[in-house]
Amino acid sequence: MPLLDALARFNDAHPWSHNAHFHPWIMRRLPDRFDRALDVGCGSGDLARLLATRATHVHGIDSDERIIARARESTGPGLPVSFTVADALTYDEGGRYDVITCVAVLHHLPLTEALTRFRGQLAPGGTLVVVGLTREDTRVQTLLGLASVPLNLITGWIRNRGRRAPRPLAMTAPTRPADVPYTEFAREARRLLPGVRLRRRLFWRYSLVWKKVREDAGPGSGSTT
Ligand SMILES: C[S@@+](CC[C@H](N)C(=O)[O-])C[C@H]1O[C@@H](n2cnc3c(N)ncnc32)[C@H](O)[C@@H]1O
Repeated sequence: MPLLDALARFNDAHPWSHNAHFHPWIMRRLPDRFDRALDVGCGSGDLARLLATRATHVHGIDSDERIIARARESTGPGLPVSFTVADALTYDEGGRYDVITCVAVLHHLPLTEALTRFRGQLAPGGTLVVVGLTREDTRVQTLLGLASVPLNLITGWIRNRGRRAPRPLAMTAPTRPADVPYTEFAREARRLLPGVRLRRRLFWRYSLVWKKVREDAGPGSGSTT
C-alpha cells in the first residue's frame, strides 16, 4: 500500500529506539541504589550502563556476539558493568539479583521457562522490570497501536531534528516478531508472578513490574507487590 510504504520510508529515514524510550520509566521503578543487577538481552548495553549509575555491579548478557562486542566498545572504563555472551536460559554466574531488566527480549524466549527463571534469579525484595512485545489481540492494544503511528512519526522527526539519520547502535541488535498474544502472555505472567503489574503501552509495547516479596513467591504463594 502506498501510504504504508511512505510511512515505512519516513520511519527508516528518522529512526529512534522505542526500547530506549522506556529507560527513564524503568529507572523510576527501581530503588536509588541497589547491589547486583542483570540486564537480559542487553543489546548494545544502553540500559546496562544506565543501571550501572545506581548499582554495585551490572551484568549485561546477550546471545549475540557482535552486539556484545559493540556493547563493550561503547562502555568506558570505571563503570561497574560487564558484558557476557550468554543464553538467558542457561546463564549462571552464581548469586542472585536485586534488579532484573529485560527489554524487547522476552518474545525471543520460551515464556514460561523465562519467567520462572527470572523469578528464581531474583533475590527476595528484588524487582523485575520487563518491557516487551506481544501479538496484538486486545482492543486496547489496537487503539494504542493506532495512536502510536502519528506519535512515532512526530517523535522520529523531533529526535532527529528533521534530518535523515542512521539507525542508533541499539537498533542493530537482532530482532524477531512477537507471536504470543497479549492475553496468553498476561495469563501466564499473573500465574507465575503473583501480584505482577501489567500495562499496555504506546509504541507497541507492554510493561511488567514485579517485586519478589519473599523466597517462595511463585504460583499460589499469594505474594503482593
Ligand atoms: C530487540 S533486541 C533488544 C536489545 C536491547 N534489550 C534493547 O532494548 O535495545 C533483542 C535482543 O535479545 C537477544 N536475545 C535473543 N535471544 C536471546 C537469548 N536466548 N539469550 C540472551 N539474549 C537473547 C538478541 O541477541 C537481541 O540483542
